[in-house]
Amino acid sequence: MKAIVVVDKNWGIGKKNDLLFHLPADMKHFRERTLGKVVVMGSNTLLSFPGGKPLKNRTNIVLWPGGEKREGCIVVGSPEELFREIGRYPADDVFVVGGAMLYRTLLPYCSEAIVTKANADGGAEVFFENLDELPQWSLAEEGAPFEDNGVTIRFCVYRNAGPVRP
Ligand SMILES: NC(=O)c1ccc[n+]([C@@H]2O[C@H](COP(=O)([O-])OP(=O)(O)OC[C@H]3O[C@@H](n4cnc5c(N)ncnc54)[C@H](OP(=O)(O)O)[C@@H]3O)[C@@H](O)[C@H]2O)c1
Repeated sequence: MKAIVVVDKNWGIGKKNDLLFHLPADMKHFRERTLGKVVVMGSNTLLSFPGGKPLKNRTNIVLWPGGEKREGCIVVGSPEELFREIGRYPADDVFVVGGAMLYRTLLPYCSEAIVTKANADGGAEVFFENLDELPQWSLAEEGAPFEDNGVTIRFCVYRNAGPVRP
């Protein structure tokens, strides 16, 4: 499985259960990568979407202990149940889309992290792991910087030398 995330210059990812920036080009990049695939998220991230609705044209799996049934979502109650559910799909089709708690839980199992880096301080309250400080992770691809809605961003890919098998 792969993580996909947009981070600010401090590896911050969110505040007040929302994203830090409005980045249309990054949204397009996210949509292109995940359409038709499986997206895995924590309950806060689902609830942060407009109307608390799942992402269209994707299989939405939500880790939500004690959570309610939601139309268009597969709600699982524990990491064990989540791994059973994820195991039904090809690993390359599974994208961990947040938030901070779920990224922390699933990062060791990810072979790749697709990271959009925003060269700005978004005043984040929640953070992704700093992959530059984790020895098993290395920067494999780094795109050219460009401006997206007034913020300089670049598309990057990090690879995990030793992903754990679920
Ligand atoms: N920058 C980005 O790319 C990006 C992407 C996605 C989200 N975000 C941001 O991240 C923030 C949300 O992050 P978050 O950490 O608050 O929420 P989250 O990971 O989306 O959801 C957390 C909730 O999911 C459940 N959960 C997650 N991991 C679990 C585990 N290991 N075991 C049991 N339950 C688990 C729990 O649900 P219960 O509380 O129901 O037990 C937990 O409270 C928002 O600001 C959002 O906008 C940013």
